[in-house]
Amino acid sequence: MIYRQLGKTDLKVSVLGYGCWAAGNQWDDSSDEASIRAIQTAIDLGINFFDVAPVYGYGHAEQVLGRAIAGRRDKVYIATKCGLTWDDNGRTYRNLTRENILREIDESLRRLNVDYVDLYQVHWPDPNVPIEETFTTLEELKRSGKVRYIGVTNFSISLIEQAQEYTEIVSDQVLYNMIDRNSDDYHGLDLNYRSEQEILPYCAEEQLGFIPYSPLCQGLLTDHFDRDAISQRDVRTANRQLRGEALKRNLAVREELLKVAEDYGRPLSQLALNWLIQKPAVTSIIAGALNEHHVQQNAGALEWSLSESDLDRIGKILG
Ligand SMILES: NC(=O)c1ccc[n+]([C@@H]2O[C@H](COP(=O)([O-])OP(=O)(O)OC[C@H]3O[C@@H](n4cnc5c(N)ncnc54)[C@H](OP(=O)(O)O)[C@@H]3O)[C@@H](O)[C@H]2O)c1
Repeated sequence: MIYRQLGKTDLKVSVLGYGCWAAGNQWDDSSDEASIRAIQTAIDLGINFFDVAPVYGYGHAEQVLGRAIAGRRDKVYIATKCGLTWDDNGRTYRNLTRENILREIDESLRRLNVDYVDLYQVHWPDPNVPIEETFTTLEELKRSGKVRYIGVTNFSISLIEQAQEYTEIVSDQVLYNMIDRNSDDYHGLDLNYRSEQEILPYCAEEQLGFIPYSPLCQGLLTDHFDRDAISQRDVRTANRQLRGEALKRNLAVREELLKVAEDYGRPLSQLALNWLIQKPAVTSIIAGALNEHHVQQNAGALEWSLSESDLDRIGKILG
């Protein structure tokens, strides 16, 4: 495993991390036992950075992660989030008020069955709450010892700089993969930042952790993608890249990328991960995988490197 410093913190995180969204059982084929096996396989492989959120499965993914790491707390860094809550009908909404954050952290610690989290990330900006209220509350949480570091996700540079006035922001987690390099939409939500054009160079310059989410484009950048197998209740149906004209274009790109992967005798998932790993500013790639064999296969991305000429070739394919 390769480890990289998360921003200016003392956390040395594995460049291949693990994303727990699907462990919340909102994807097609998840079971708690499979999720726990996959997480424990990841730990055995040296993966130490686990990303989760209260909203994933409405608390369920945090509980599953808590069960999976029981007795191995010292081997993992936990990155959870705040600011996306839900009602009894499963409708989600943003809430970054002081009252809500103070409630959410205690619920996360209880579900995860831990005393502190390593990275506490604001999930999405909330335009209805003053930045000062949110980030002074988070600074307070840091001082209390419930969280070690504060990060953000889906934040533009301007918002990061405003937040930095109240507490130290150590990382930004954003949508980034071979297909979504500068996308302006994710599951119907506007993205007010451009990952590759803005956030990646900014994080490199300012020494902030850069955490790419959906690194495999939710399965499109793997050998076994089958759009027809995704059921109507699966959250991925909301992904614009996996629908209509965009899907047609993306499948054509995928065919070309498969040829590059074949030249190395490697699966497409490793190609997609390798492409991210070779960018020094990328800190930890939080790939999701409920299948333990997928976790093992993805770890193989650390065993080889793309050549300069193939990086150029990929650049041309991606356009
Ligand atoms: N901050 C945010 O707003 C935000 C938004 C989205 C996601 N995230 C985070 O990012 C994490 C990862 O993103 P994601 O879960 O959206 O998608 P992803 O990591 O791009 O893709 C996950 C999908 O790829 C499949 N897969 C993984 N390795 C594979 C392999 N070797 N062969 C075949 N299929 C493979 C998984 O299948 P199996 O499950 O069957 O293994 C799963 O269907 C999330 O879990 C979450 O922690 C954050």
